[in-house]
Amino acid sequence: MATPTAPSASGHPNPLGDELRAGRTAKPCVLVIFGATGDLTKRKLVPSLMGLAKDGLLPPGFAVVGFARRPWTDQGFRTELASGVKQFGRSETTACFEALADAFTFHQADFADPAGYESLKQKLDQLDKARGTGGNRIFYLATPPSSYSSILQNLAATGLSKEQPGRFARVIVEKPFGRDIETARALNDQVRAAFKERQVFRIDHYLGKETVQNILALRFANGIFEPLWNEKFIDHVQITVAESIGVGSRGGYFEESGIIRDMIQNHLMQVLTLVAMEPPASLTADAVRDEKVKVLKAIRSFRPEEVDSATVRAQYTRGSFGGENVNGYRDEEGVPKDSVTETYAALRLQVDNWRWARTPFYLRSGKRLPRRVTEVAIQFKQPPLSLFEGGKPMQPNVLLLRIQPDEGVALRFGAKVPGPDVRIRDVRMDFRYGTAFAGETADAYERLLLDSILGDGTLFARGDEVEEAWRIVDSIVAGWKQSPRRPEEYVAGTWGPDRALELLGDGRSWRKP
Ligand code: BG6
Repeated sequence: MATPTAPSASGHPNPLGDELRAGRTAKPCVLVIFGATGDLTKRKLVPSLMGLAKDGLLPPGFAVVGFARRPWTDQGFRTELASGVKQFGRSETTACFEALADAFTFHQADFADPAGYESLKQKLDQLDKARGTGGNRIFYLATPPSSYSSILQNLAATGLSKEQPGRFARVIVEKPFGRDIETARALNDQVRAAFKERQVFRIDHYLGKETVQNILALRFANGIFEPLWNEKFIDHVQITVAESIGVGSRGGYFEESGIIRDMIQNHLMQVLTLVAMEPPASLTADAVRDEKVKVLKAIRSFRPEEVDSATVRAQYTRGSFGGENVNGYRDEEGVPKDSVTETYAALRLQVDNWRWARTPFYLRSGKRLPRRVTEVAIQFKQPPLSLFEGGKPMQPNVLLLRIQPDEGVALRFGAKVPGPDVRIRDVRMDFRYGTAFAGETADAYERLLLDSILGDGTLFARGDEVEEAWRIVDSIVAGWKQSPRRPEEYVAGTWGPDRALELLGDGRSWRKP
């Protein structure tokens, strides 16, 4: 992020000042999307670019080249994108696309054919002349991971990946970033053979969500939370990412990844690092990511025999949703009848450092749960002595960070019920984004695309972060492989298997959002 200027009480520059975003000007550039005929480009990337255009955040001359194998024309490409913007874009972005349609061109080539990159280079040089994009390029890998290697090699071989004085070259890599630590390391090696780490932007779209970024603001822009943010006052933390959808047409992909690779290794681990990290020295990309990596490093890998008591995995079976019958996981298209892939997982993780030594972190994520909801619940310890209602234990205080939907923050605490008796009841203080701030919230991809154009890697995963997260996840997967226990079952539309409760212990229970 940009150099802060506002002085703090200590007289040092204040890294949390309003000036953080000031001075960030986007330089003209070309975005090359590999795999541009795919769903991501149509549903997310181009609608998000048009959101930026609407807010006046795209640099002048900005251009997009769609690189893919299919024999599309510029016009065919634009027609497809226009329908994507209409369907998935924010309000009024259709007009932005109409105004900017000329900025989108199509480049047909095979990812493995060097000649396609030579012709790409010529095309980019022409765009520089025609649109003043100054030799600045961003390459977006939106292909299946099996094509990454060819693309990276060819970008390096043609010199397109090279930074030159006054010109930037960057690469954005979509998830999944590997499927275990070995493949992630190999991919990191391939990426770094073509680009330097500062040129690399690994996407985790959860980091682009406003409410995920708000975790840092809540913790470090306020004086009241941080003194309590440790094992002395916090009993445990629950991170829930629940989805009501099943795997739908993605059965083939999901069967190979399971919820642990699809959601936990990336999105939940990223949220966990933001909740657990130490205050960074500044908000520069490396200062923030250094602290996040330390959290992951403080989580021990599991020994295979520990995995069954620290995790629960399960698969959804046939059930009903809003009165409609839905398939069980094994009935989904592309899923074998004897599949043991988990569609739900819950974990107990221990961050072994001074701040968190006795505070467990419980993570859970699943498909076909009753609601789509992502939240972080910080549950505080009970007061040392209960004076009310005959010494009965009170409901614990909970600080709830609602990531989506109904974005906001709530604090639950006990209050006296009016009347002559002294009775305590749970009440809530509630902050809602929708009411506190006017306007549409931008999609996570808008923020991430803008930051990649600005060259700010704070909200992207660094190579070592990704590898550390895989180390933890790999140890769980290895334990599951060795365990005689099969995944539990849960009926679609319920909150997961009963055994997930056993993970918590000590009278704790999972929240029902
Ligand atoms: C993706 C996963 O990364 O995140 C999907 O591959 C999942 O399986 C999606 O549905 C959830 O994202 P969001 O933003 O809808 O919570």
